[in-house]
Amino acid sequence: MEFKGTQTIAASREVVWACLNDPRTLQQCIEGCESFSALEDGRWQAVVLASVGPVKARFKGSVTISEPQPLRGYRLSGEGEGGIAGFGKMNAVVTLADAEDGTTLDYVAQATVGGKLAQIGSRLVSSVAMKMADTFFTRFNALVSGLAPDAVPAAAPDAAQAAGTAAAAAPADAGVDANVVLTVNGRPVRRRVDDRTLLVDLLRRDLRLTGTHVGCDTSQCGACTVRLDGVAVKSCSVLAVQASGGEVVTIEGLAAPGTVHALQEAFTACHGLQCGFCTPGMIMAADGLLSSGQPVNRETICTAIEGNICRCTGYVNIIEAIEQAAHRAKEQA
Ligand code: FES
Ligand code: FES
Repeated sequence: MEFKGTQTIAASREVVWACLNDPRTLQQCIEGCESFSALEDGRWQAVVLASVGPVKARFKGSVTISEPQPLRGYRLSGEGEGGIAGFGKMNAVVTLADAEDGTTLDYVAQATVGGKLAQIGSRLVSSVAMKMADTFFTRFNALVSGLAPDAVPAAAPDAAQAAGTAAAAAPADAGVDANVVLTVNGRPVRRRVDDRTLLVDLLRRDLRLTGTHVGCDTSQCGACTVRLDGVAVKSCSVLAVQASGGEVVTIEGLAAPGTVHALQEAFTACHGLQCGFCTPGMIMAADGLLSSGQPVNRETICTAIEGNICRCTGYVNIIEAIEQAAHRAKEQA
């Protein structure tokens, strides 16, 4: 089976080429990748957990780069053995070209399967393979477009060096005509996104801050609550371009690295969560209240979390947790 696709990436060809040869970037693009370690130049050992219809298996195999044509493209191949599930192989010829807004990446991929996988039916296998390839290159686009300078792959690929390019030194956002410039959890972020991109999608899909959840996508559940310029907002109701220039804090950035926020501590102590799906949004909504300077009491707590739905804990313990966190904050002030 053969399938193809195109991505327009908001980055220069040098940067795209460097990232195509960067193992950390490749690893992040492989859905279900559990480990990725170097075997030799241009070849890595990988373990990938994948589901094809009813068959779910851990595939152990390799990822290989071959036929490099610096700045123009290469062949990317992957193959894995999934025990009784059978085996899968995929290879894609990747071609780069200049585009008005950056770089066009075209791929033509082929996939083959054997063993139990081959009995599932070619249409299902084909659609899963197509989705895997699409996910890989969509993730690649998201990672490479508008990378912050400190996220540039540290090591330049041999092929890029051989081509005499400045790929290793090129800032990853070189050539990015960003329409969203903001600070997220203290880090500067520059991205070019579609005008319709929601803030929650920028956070989850592009920045991989998946602690912010999506429950309804229609501003009902509050699972997507983050702090924008000090105020708790539902990030599914804010366009990324509207947030440009702002300062966003998500659940990942609420406490300093390696520490736990008073609200997180109190939710644990008061059993303010069960499945935890609503918890990041609840905590960010509560944080909006605690940092607003308003008095914290049952009434203001209920108002602060009235747009947040919890389907399993119930609200009593959640309210107690917020009260406890507010009490501790007062004691420590
Ligand atoms: Fe935003 Fe439900 S996902 S309110
Ligand atoms: Fe499960 Fe709130 S803890 S939805």
